[in-house]
Amino acid sequence: MASTNHLSPGLSTRCVHAGTLPDACAGGVNSPLYTSTAYAYPGPANENIYQRYFNTPNQQAVADKLAALEGAEAGLVFSSGMAAISTLLLTFLQPGDHAVFMKGLYGGTHALIQDFLARQQVRISWADTPDAFARELKENTKLLYIESPSNPLLRCIDIAAVARLAHSKGILSVIDNTFATPINQQPFKLGIDLCLHSATKYLNGHSDLNAGIVVASDKHIRRLRACATNLGGMLDAEVCARLERGLKTLAIRVERHNANALHLARHLASLPAVARVYYPGLESSPDHTVASAQMAGFGGMLGVELAEAARVPQVLLRLRIAKPALSLGGVETLVCVPAHTSHCNLSPQQREQVGISDGLIRISVGIEDSDDLLEDFDQAIGS
Ligand SMILES: Cc1ncc(COP(=O)(O)O)c(C=O)c1O
Repeated sequence: MASTNHLSPGLSTRCVHAGTLPDACAGGVNSPLYTSTAYAYPGPANENIYQRYFNTPNQQAVADKLAALEGAEAGLVFSSGMAAISTLLLTFLQPGDHAVFMKGLYGGTHALIQDFLARQQVRISWADTPDAFARELKENTKLLYIESPSNPLLRCIDIAAVARLAHSKGILSVIDNTFATPINQQPFKLGIDLCLHSATKYLNGHSDLNAGIVVASDKHIRRLRACATNLGGMLDAEVCARLERGLKTLAIRVERHNANALHLARHLASLPAVARVYYPGLESSPDHTVASAQMAGFGGMLGVELAEAARVPQVLLRLRIAKPALSLGGVETLVCVPAHTSHCNLSPQQREQVGISDGLIRISVGIEDSDDLLEDFDQAIGS
């Protein structure tokens, strides 16, 4: 699919303008909304247009904006992050292939790999460092998959090292860039081949739609689209238009998420009732050096581990601004307890093995006034 990217403008300018469709009818500043499911054939460049072919104007507008933001040639917009991930894995992995995945991925991705991909006769290994990825390589390895920072423990991996390893063996490298967004992290500059997002989170930013996006070279996106057309996980035009609107404010929102999260992380780390804060922006984080080298900002997600796990329900009840809720990346501050949500099916011992303690609260820090958030967590957690 031809891309109309203009890579020279800054990220904020790209957020506002890249991909916008011209309104030849009325000269409106926003992309017109094309709701049709039936288009005259043959379409432009003799390509038939159909929502499930992932090629309607509103799908293209969003794909082009994100491709411009990530510095990629092309993109494909899906109905959810999981639709993007499952389609990508089914496109680039065949029965008998082997792939290495980063440990500690988002629970939904982990379940897809463990429960579904393994049944497709794809061989799977797990690794947590570039060296460990190298040790897991086999003759039939086709793909390396990372998520940095990861959900929920905010682990960061040396992206360039993983990409170099993949290239040296002629295999694909994939990153889930959901937590960082292109404002904080530009994986293509680090050599990654395919970059994906749950656009449900920061890209949209208002907790009111589900979407996913993959961006990559024209060649990879063409291959992905051939499989996506069969699987059918496309995004409706009206939702595309809302996602396009959300993306216009991405840069400015992320700046505020970054500032609020760093401020809150530093403050929480000073409270005696807090055993540990997980945030790559803190000097105490084991991943601070690698994160500082590859991120422009550290993002809006953090984890806080209470010294007394039994106090977690009380803390959640006491919060006045932050709301206990699933999902993340919206303008409002949300908290959730991985032991009760994404990791509730594991035993306490299994949770301990993957580093998820019962006292861990994941915070998606919103764009409210920073001091209000500090006060809210202060009164809820206490000293
Ligand atoms: C890092 C990450 N990737 C992918 C997904 C899946 O996205 P979606 O819920 O839009 O399918 C999530 C969801 O929380 C996530 O946190």
